[in-house]
Amino acid sequence: MRFLVTGAAGMLGSEVVGALESLGHEVWATDVADNEDPLDITREDRVDAAIRSFRPHWVVNCAAYTNVDGAEDDEEAAFLLNARGPETIARSCRRHGARLLHMSTDYVFDGTKDTPYREDDLPNPLNVYGASKLAGEEAVRHVHGGSLIVRTQWLIGANGPNFVSKIIDAARGRDRLEVVNDQYGSPTFAADLARALCLLMEKGAQGIYHVCNRGVTTWYELASRALAYAAIATPVVPVPTSAIARKARRPAYSALSTVKFSQETGRLMPLWQCSLEAFLHEYLGRPCRNAPTGGSQG
Ligand SMILES: NC(=O)c1ccc[n+]([C@@H]2O[C@H](COP(=O)([O-])OP(=O)(O)OC[C@H]3O[C@@H](n4cnc5c(N)ncnc54)[C@H](OP(=O)(O)O)[C@@H]3O)[C@@H](O)[C@H]2O)c1
Repeated sequence: MRFLVTGAAGMLGSEVVGALESLGHEVWATDVADNEDPLDITREDRVDAAIRSFRPHWVVNCAAYTNVDGAEDDEEAAFLLNARGPETIARSCRRHGARLLHMSTDYVFDGTKDTPYREDDLPNPLNVYGASKLAGEEAVRHVHGGSLIVRTQWLIGANGPNFVSKIIDAARGRDRLEVVNDQYGSPTFAADLARALCLLMEKGAQGIYHVCNRGVTTWYELASRALAYAAIATPVVPVPTSAIARKARRPAYSALSTVKFSQETGRLMPLWQCSLEAFLHEYLGRPCRNAPTGGSQG
C-alpha cells in the first residue's frame, strides 16, 4: 500500500516511516523543513497536490505544534497547525479517496479521573495545546467521518528531544534532580506506538483509539528508573507540580485505556518498563545495569 506521512522528521513520524517501510509499504515521508521537497500541512494547495499526485491509501498526520508551554503565548500558531492543518488534510483525503490517520493527545482531558481515560470520556482540555488538538480532532471527524484518530501520551523516541534523554544528560551535570511526582500517565515509546499504528491501519480501524505503553507511573518514577538502569547515582527528589513553574496547566492524571486497541488488534501494548530498557540500551549504546531479559510485546 502507499502511505504519505506528514511531520516525518519528528519523533513519531520518523518511527512511523521506518515501521511502514519495514513492512514493505511504499512511503512518501514529508516534512515542513525538508530541503528538497517540503510539505507544509497548512498550505492547502500543496497538501492537495501531494495527495492528488501520490494517491496514497493512507495519509498519516504526525505534524503538529507540540510546544505545550509555548502554545499559551502563541495560540494562533497552535490552532493553525493542530486544527486548521488537519482539517486541510482531511478535506484533501476525502476528495481523493484516501484514509486519514490523525494523531492526538491525552491533553484533551482535564485529569480529574483516577482510572484510565476511555475513548468516549468527555474531553475538557486545561491548556491551549490540548484545546488546539481537540479542535483538530473535531475538524477531522466533521470533514472526513471515516478517519482514524489516535490519542497518545508522554512520547519518548530516539528522534527528538525527550524526557528520558534530557534527564540522563541533566543528571550527569548536577548533584540532584527535582522531578514532579503528582502527574500520572503512561510513558509511550515512539517505536512501539508506530508498530501499533500499523496494526490499526492494517485492520482498517476508524474512529478514536487510545494507544500508549502499558502501566501507569509518574515523571518522578520514570526518571528514577531511567537513572537506575543507566547506573547514574544522582539522587532524584520528588516534588509537587506546584514547585515547578510552567506556563501551561497539565492534567494530574491522564493515563489512557488501551482496551479498545487490544480488542481491535488482539495485541497488548508492551509494558513501559520493558520499552524503557530497550530505549536506554540503544541510547546508551550498551547493556543496562540490572536489565531483565525477555520480550516486551504481550
Ligand atoms: N511528544 C509527545 O509527548 C506527544 C504526546 C501526545 C501526543 N503527541 C502527538 O503526537 C504527534 C507527533 O508528535 P511528536 O512528538 O512526534 O512531534 P514532533 O517531534 O514535534 O514532530 C512534529 C513534526 O512536524 C513538523 N512540522 C511542524 N510544522 C509543520 C508544518 N506546518 N507542516 C508539516 N510539518 C510540520 C515538525 O518540524 P519542525 O521540527 O521543523 O517544526 C516536526 O518534524 C503529534 O500530533 C502530537 O500532538 C505527542
